[in-house]
Amino acid sequence: MGNLFVKDIAEQLTKALELSVEEISAMVEVPPDSAMGDYALPCFPLAKSLRKAPNLIAEELASMFVATERISGVRATGPYLNFFVNTPILVRETMEAILSSDGEFGSGNQGAGKTVVIDFSSPNISKPFTIGHLRTTAIGNSLGRIYLALGWNVIGINHLGDWGAPHGMNIAAYKEWGDEEAVRNNAPYELFNLYVKFNAELEKDPSLNEQVRSWTRKLEKGDPEARSLWSWFREETIKDFNRMYERMDISFTETIGESFFHDRVDGVVDELERKKLAIESEGALVVKLDEFDMPPCILQTGHGTSLYHGRDLAAAIYRKEKYNFDRMIYTTDAGQSLHFRQFFKVLELAGYEWSADCVHVPFGVITFKEGRMSTRKGNVIFLEDALDRAVELTREIIEEKNPDLSNKEQIAEEVGVGAIIYADLDSKRTRDVLFDWDEILNFNGETGPYIQYTYARYCSVLRKYGEGVPAPDLDYALLEEPESVAVVKCLGQFPDRIYSAAEAYEPSIVANYLIGLCTAANRFYNAHRVVSDDMELSRVRVALVYAITIVLARGLHLLGMKAPEEM
Ligand code: ARG
Repeated sequence: MGNLFVKDIAEQLTKALELSVEEISAMVEVPPDSAMGDYALPCFPLAKSLRKAPNLIAEELASMFVATERISGVRATGPYLNFFVNTPILVRETMEAILSSDGEFGSGNQGAGKTVVIDFSSPNISKPFTIGHLRTTAIGNSLGRIYLALGWNVIGINHLGDWGAPHGMNIAAYKEWGDEEAVRNNAPYELFNLYVKFNAELEKDPSLNEQVRSWTRKLEKGDPEARSLWSWFREETIKDFNRMYERMDISFTETIGESFFHDRVDGVVDELERKKLAIESEGALVVKLDEFDMPPCILQTGHGTSLYHGRDLAAAIYRKEKYNFDRMIYTTDAGQSLHFRQFFKVLELAGYEWSADCVHVPFGVITFKEGRMSTRKGNVIFLEDALDRAVELTREIIEEKNPDLSNKEQIAEEVGVGAIIYADLDSKRTRDVLFDWDEILNFNGETGPYIQYTYARYCSVLRKYGEGVPAPDLDYALLEEPESVAVVKCLGQFPDRIYSAAEAYEPSIVANYLIGLCTAANRFYNAHRVVSDDMELSRVRVALVYAITIVLARGLHLLGMKAPEEM
């Protein structure tokens, strides 16, 4: 944590604790409830080196701490040393920082000069985009925006699932019943129907598997018919995916996919054989990981068929060469955790020190009342249907609440899509998400629409005031009521929350922060009149409202959502 208040704390404690100012700053936290204090130093991490109980450490530090201009009080509460700041200084500095930030308050430069690769979304071609790939898309996109706000160079990669046996099956199914016209008009849905039909037939007649094997092999060997069908399916599907990405305002630096790495797996296998890591086992090339309590990492079958692991290894090495990243993040469901642990371990064994910079960011699944989805059987929920439904329901709410709104269509789209994105981000990512329309779209609940609605409400306050944003010569001391101070303190925490969200790979930190900000803002708004006869007071309160809109807009952006000014 780095601000002048924390610096004051750290500078005074550095002697007593024999830790550097940076080390102490890094330990300082913001308590969940500001009544406890504005900052806190948890003392348990010090217990070992000081050989004292944390409570005792907190008490001793409290009695020796001398108040400064910025830190006006200190109190030991159990194992925590809590600090209270000089409120007028905090209010003025926070407000000035926000108003002079060009709408970018919260941005930092912690990532300056560093590159992060984010592998996210990565759906599988020849199938429509389902809800199954929504979470990785929402989480990865938000992380990208968060890292960008911290000054990182962000490389977003869509690692399409476009290789392997399922694509052999797609070809087999198309050859059996396919209709060119139908695929042209409705590619992923049509291909998906064929795929489901093929699976159903396969259950009755396992000999059909031979066709799948044969087309998969032809695809790998570069047979012109197989390649041309595959590449046609791929192109048509990508077109369809792009419509979803456009609706969600998502873009990638690179969309290449697994097929690109098929040929590169040979090189990886050679290298791992040279390094005595890859061996032949049961007709496949594998790296044994027994020592690490993991099943083998399987790179390739004996016939030269590349496998998911092998392609991921090749992709990681390729990306390191191309981008020389400082960090690489993969967002997938927790079901793939072992896959990532295995291949990160193989990178490490192969001597790639940067394997330590690779992170798997797992998340829970989306669940529905109907139970889990299985693509093979076809009882899936398509993302497009979910987006349409959310927009439709939002349209109904708008018709009821604000029928005169001018650009209803666009706002329904922004709020409906936003509601779905928010629902993916608001709880800790490892938790499963239960999709419930009433909850997601509740304008008064802890939802995306609630944040957007709060934002629109304060925009309307500013519009009504009509005199533009107040000039800089404001008397911030007038923001002295507890509700106003609470809002400013909350605003001041934004930079820190962005940083924590990046370090924990947890957009929910930003999402929950925004809900807290809305609550604090609404408390202020309900307790005080923004515009009154008192000109000076009105000006500074309008400035506060303006600051709220800046942070809400920025926060919504970081989650990947739009911020309509009217709703
Ligand atoms: N296409 C995969 C799936 O749908 C996700 C790929 C994730 N990225 C990776 N490099 N393995 O499960």
